[in-house]
Amino acid sequence: MKKPANQILVVFGASGDLANRKIIPALYSLFINNLLPERFEVIGLGRSVIANDEYRKRLENGITSFSRVEDISREKISGILNHVNYYTFDNSKPEDYKKLSEILGKADNASGTSGNYIFYLATPPSLYTIIAGNLAKAGLSNQSSGFRRIIFEKPFGYDLKSCLELNKSLHEIFLEEQIYRIDHYLGKETVQNLLVTRFSNGLFEPLWNRNYIEYVEITSAENIGVENRGGYYDSAGALRDMVQNHLLQMVGMTAMEPPSSLNPNAIRNEILKVFQSFQPYKEEDVSKYVMRGQYTGSRVRGECFSGYRQEKGVDPNSRTETYVAMKFYISNWRWGGVPFYIRTGKRLPTRVTEIVIHFKPTPHFLFQSGNQSVENNQLIIRIQPDEGILLKFGMKEPGAGFNVKNVNMDFHYSDLGRIRVPEAYERLLNDVMAGDSTLYSRDDTVETAWKFLEPIQNAWANDQAIKIYGYPCATWGPEPADDLFEGKNITWRYPCKNLADDGLYCEL
Ligand code: NDP
Ligand code: BG6
Repeated sequence: MKKPANQILVVFGASGDLANRKIIPALYSLFINNLLPERFEVIGLGRSVIANDEYRKRLENGITSFSRVEDISREKISGILNHVNYYTFDNSKPEDYKKLSEILGKADNASGTSGNYIFYLATPPSLYTIIAGNLAKAGLSNQSSGFRRIIFEKPFGYDLKSCLELNKSLHEIFLEEQIYRIDHYLGKETVQNLLVTRFSNGLFEPLWNRNYIEYVEITSAENIGVENRGGYYDSAGALRDMVQNHLLQMVGMTAMEPPSSLNPNAIRNEILKVFQSFQPYKEEDVSKYVMRGQYTGSRVRGECFSGYRQEKGVDPNSRTETYVAMKFYISNWRWGGVPFYIRTGKRLPTRVTEIVIHFKPTPHFLFQSGNQSVENNQLIIRIQPDEGILLKFGMKEPGAGFNVKNVNMDFHYSDLGRIRVPEAYERLLNDVMAGDSTLYSRDDTVETAWKFLEPIQNAWANDQAIKIYGYPCATWGPEPADDLFEGKNITWRYPCKNLADDGLYCEL
């Protein structure tokens, strides 16, 4: 990570949950690690009326509660919060942007931040074009006196049409190089490690193709429900909330060709090529290849969990999915014929995100399988928690005969000792400050992802007969999701929270 040039960060939506839970704690961590610019100011803008002192107090509580940095002290927190100022702001009023321009000019003169500004839109997406348009009218998108970058939170669009419209209106104001679309999964250390695992080892890449891989399975499971985001979630659902961005980006990193360099566009071009090679769904096939579910209330170890329809902010008759599982193909030379199975859901038994490469069996099996059935080799890339990599393979069971036993060989990031793994938002903020867009989604990639999902969205909207299956909280989702394997003798994995327990029975 780098020390960026002097600048001011303007956070729209600074009174919100994301600013408090992610953005400011990430800045604190950058501050502690001496990764903020030499001269740096934060201007927080929000709808609520909050006095500056009260706002700083709120952020202090946010840092104490949500930062994963061990070195937390009032003195150090003040070190960053003394550079944060909050203003009540109406996003729709052009005169407020004139005031913002004055505030920026004054802060710049007083602090020597070199006229560079980043605008972070941590607001509901309905405000994105309004804010961008007003910034332009106030002359704040013009780069003649310093750089101007603009960060958009997810969701970026609601479907293909809205994404195209959003990109079109933003491109009338900002160059693509100025636009940073956040997908915080790309900021995760272990997702980036996929590139290193694949392209720095001679071992894996020769096997990384249709000749040796039977199928790829990606899971992003959460044990939490929709928490206090019922209103947002009910209009989004798991397909928009997780699949369109986080899961497809992980598919992109898993399936991409080696980039020609680590240049942002070289990497993003390869991800785009994967997305362009997704074999499109036909609307009439959606019910066969995409399963959706919604969690229902249940009791787990004596504790009651409400069903999705009983959550605050959710329509009691909602047909919004909290679980999606799907099967698809990537039609190119590397992956032709290899199914990709991906799934995500809320209120599953545990929080785990992993990519599993299932290798083909040997052409002829010479041995006996002993007490266990012999598994094909698997490479498990654990994104979170217990970040690491595990390889499953067969060994001779000690004793007479040639019985084969499945064993695991594993590496955990925690084995590296006290090496600091930066949080996703920390890495992404440092990158945008330094002008590195590698880990941000590009316009064409986001559009292509929406295009791939369009037949699913259409089928779900148009065909009421497509089922949404209930699944009790703390189970691995609806049983019909197993039908995606179409009678092959395989099923979804039931991963444990700890990678080292893989293959063992894990208590829920
Ligand atoms: P919040 O609902 O907490 O609101 C964010 C900010 O927007 C607040 O400052 C709020 O003002 C302001 N705001 C809300 N509605 C309006 C409105 N109609 N007009 C003007 N201002 C408004 O949202 P979050 O902080 O949770 O999320 C912000 C963005 O980040 C969203 O795009 C969300 O999808 C995305 N995101 C959030 C995540 C999270 O964990 N929170 C995770 C990933 C993405 P005030 O509160 O002062 O009224
Ligand atoms: C967010 C989704 O983008 O990712 C949330 O909006 C989800 O619904 C979250 O809970 C998961 O992120 P992580 O980093 O906890 O896996």
